[in-house]
Amino acid sequence: MTNGKLAVALLALAAALVPGLAVAEVPDNPTFHKDIEPILQRSCQVCHRPDNMAPMSLMNYQEARPWARSIRAKVEAREMPPWHIDPKVGVQAFKNDKSLSDDEIATIGSWVDSGAPRGNPEDAPVPVQFQEFGAWTIDPDVIVTSPPHTVPAEAGDWWGDYIVPSGISTDRYIKAIQTKAGDLRVVHHALTYAVTDPDSSLNDSSEDAFLNEYAVGKNADVYPDGSGRLFPADSRVRFSFHYHSVGEEATDQTELGLVLYPEGEEPNKILYSRQLGQAGELDIPAGQVTRHDGYQKMYLPGKLTGFQPHMHFLGTRQCLELIYPNGSTEMVNCANFDFNWHIVYNYDDPSQPIYPAGTTLHVISYHDNTQANRGNHDAKNWTGGGSRTVDEMAFSWISWYDLSDEEYAAELEARKAQAEND
Ligand code: HEC
Repeated sequence: MTNGKLAVALLALAAALVPGLAVAEVPDNPTFHKDIEPILQRSCQVCHRPDNMAPMSLMNYQEARPWARSIRAKVEAREMPPWHIDPKVGVQAFKNDKSLSDDEIATIGSWVDSGAPRGNPEDAPVPVQFQEFGAWTIDPDVIVTSPPHTVPAEAGDWWGDYIVPSGISTDRYIKAIQTKAGDLRVVHHALTYAVTDPDSSLNDSSEDAFLNEYAVGKNADVYPDGSGRLFPADSRVRFSFHYHSVGEEATDQTELGLVLYPEGEEPNKILYSRQLGQAGELDIPAGQVTRHDGYQKMYLPGKLTGFQPHMHFLGTRQCLELIYPNGSTEMVNCANFDFNWHIVYNYDDPSQPIYPAGTTLHVISYHDNTQANRGNHDAKNWTGGGSRTVDEMAFSWISWYDLSDEEYAAELEARKAQAEND
């Protein structure tokens, strides 16, 4: 078997071994305390609790009952929890995955159909203790803070960026990183990037390196021992925000915390995050759904750790495919896209796709410029590429490690052995 073929087979195996999607049957006569509350605890309460980003709390029966129908509609549409990976395509084992199985969704449907009964309070699971409001889970050496941003009591959503100096004046490697929102109620999302180009403006992020995202319930990214990412000397930090109003004025300052390797120390493995698979000129006529393709050849073998689709309002779906040197292909993932949610899909360690030297990453982006697309503010006009939010984009943020040929071969063998043992 060629390396390419074997990688294909292994990726397929990894995809088949999906943990988390336990084959629990849909229970007869589900009740809140026995069947629904555990689902809310695992997948919803991290956001749906007091003083957090979601509009209402779902911490107990009294709070959840009035929302029963709405909960059903949102989970059946797979709009909640926000997790837009197509469950039928490619790798399915991710870190921080709160998505619901088909059985869990059916259980919620059946519960609502039977009048959303409470059941026996003695069946209730132990309440979950959530992390304290805005806690560090790492001990940062450097903290970079975004300027105060005041979100009015009532206003439309605000998408925008701030670039601030980092104070880091030599090349340093990052061991662990966390983005910590100041006021969780108003920060819908916050993404951070290292801006290496001193002339870079707010409107040009193409040379930036993605660092980390703030996501509710997500802890810091702590890189495996001996690995890290470069924070180039004198880079500034770009904070990219989506703020939303919560009925009272609030001021946020979000922080980026970095744990660094000592000055002059370079880890063995370096993690990269870049915009890859940028499609060429975008041509998105009014009233049409378009597809654009972008390609990136990888000259060294490697291992993908994360995938984050990037488009703007018209983007509806993006897929990532590997084209192996022998010409065979494998779909890694497809994700539906909603500009409201910039979700980074980080693969579980054993499922991180590996590929041989000469593999091409193929990014396929779909834009919907019809009236059917709820995100479309103007279906009457042609749209093209650009950096304003009303322009479009089509690329993926890809995080990866390069491997040596020997490391790639060894990893392939290890995965094969593992797959045979399972
Ligand atoms: C990552 C945070 C997050 C998670 C996890 C989450 N939600 Fe939400 N939810 C939100 C936010 C924020 C909104 C407001 C609308 C938006 O921004 O899309 C929302 C809106 C909703 C709404 C609509 C409320 C309205 O005003 O109509 C329902 C219903 C809902 N969520 C149910 C759920 C359920 C059920 C789960 C778990 C299965 C869940 N959510 C998980 C953040 C979250």
